[in-house]
Amino acid sequence: MSFARVILRPRFISIIAYTIGAICVQAASSGSSPSAITYPRIGAIPSINSPEVQAWLKEIDLSGSPLIGLNHGVPPDCPAKIDSSVCYWTCQGCAEDDVVACPNPNVWGLTFDDGPTEVTTSLLKVLHKENVKATFFLIGGNVVQFPEVVKAELEQGHHLASHTWSHHTLTTLTNEQIVAEMKWTEKAIEDATGYRVKYMRPPYGDVDNHVRFVLKKLGYIIVDWTGDAFDTDDWKIPMKQANVSSVTTHFKKSAATYNANKSLSKKGFISLEHDLSVETVRVAKELIPYGTSHGLIIQSIPNCLHDATPYAAMNGVVKGVNGSHSTTGSSGMNTGAQSQKGKNDMVTSTSVSTSAGASRQHFLGHALMLSPTILALGPIVVAILAL
Ligand SMILES: *[C@@H]1O[C@H](CO)[C@@H](O)[C@H](O)[C@H]1NC(C)=O
Ligand SMILES: *[C@@H]1O[C@H](CO)[C@@H](O)[C@H](O)[C@H]1NC(C)=O
Ligand SMILES: [Zn+2]
Repeated sequence: MSFARVILRPRFISIIAYTIGAICVQAASSGSSPSAITYPRIGAIPSINSPEVQAWLKEIDLSGSPLIGLNHGVPPDCPAKIDSSVCYWTCQGCAEDDVVACPNPNVWGLTFDDGPTEVTTSLLKVLHKENVKATFFLIGGNVVQFPEVVKAELEQGHHLASHTWSHHTLTTLTNEQIVAEMKWTEKAIEDATGYRVKYMRPPYGDVDNHVRFVLKKLGYIIVDWTGDAFDTDDWKIPMKQANVSSVTTHFKKSAATYNANKSLSKKGFISLEHDLSVETVRVAKELIPYGTSHGLIIQSIPNCLHDATPYAAMNGVVKGVNGSHSTTGSSGMNTGAQSQKGKNDMVTSTSVSTSAGASRQHFLGHALMLSPTILALGPIVVAILAL
């Protein structure tokens, strides 16, 4: 099959699905309730001209933003020459002070991106059975379609974080568009749960110092992952570019290398998985007991970083996990005596080896992968509305 056909077909279908989803969400939210919220169109970069975004833009000072040109394309082309001051993870493997690992040895930071989806509930059952907590990097446009699933994630002790509204590559967006992507997602999660997120993962790991400037102004902590070794590439399964066995074999190899190498295992690692399909859930179902039986301690990101305040303050009050309120730094998290260390423990790295960057291959497949997901969501929303 020609490359163009592979690309164009899902794209075209996804535009229809996005539109159906958007119409449905807007119809649902602008119905009888006077306090109804109209969210931006699902899968699209939110307009910066809406009253909401204009109000958010008034709250932050974006002056002093580094003068870095916007990238183009999905994936963005790597410029022939990039100044080191750009610190572009995808093309330079540069992570600045993004979180790329867990500080303590044998700790596995467990993360799932791109949800919630129709398979998230079955993943929650797996995590419950294995008694482990994870961080979920949520797409805002999905949160408004499955708010109850997001609530369940929180209630079961998992950690919620942002993965933007529309899953676009942030290095191609303006400062104002990045604000719109982040604040709408923040609002969607807050509307669903009452919690304000403070951690985020850039879609495709596509982040440079222009993007970091805006995210930091918004108070976000950026979380990448521990390089290609712990990028499971599970999203390739729905794309038919991998299978459960090839994905789990890759991870087990990486874990064995990690365990055998004293220099690598001086600190923990962060893996990248997705709650996207029955198969990606099956990957988690196999890898979690594998990790536990090989001496790995599985934790959410704030837990592995000893961050006792995994959410942002709202009206001066910081909430811990499971609804425990905290203004003093103690919370429902089982970080014990280490809970006061907070951000100082964050793993930082100015120059991760190139293998630590988000590979361009990762990018392309991942971009295509999102479309079938959205496609699957459209009819579900239609079905719900038809009730
Ligand atoms: C899974 O993928 C691997 C590597 O591409 C391949 O060797 C293997 O035959 C595949 N297994 C199945 C069950 O398709
Ligand atoms: C252990 O890992 C380090 C860092 O990646 C590497 O430089 C070194 O060669 C590895 N050692 C062995 C014995 O594989
Ligand atoms: Zn993603």
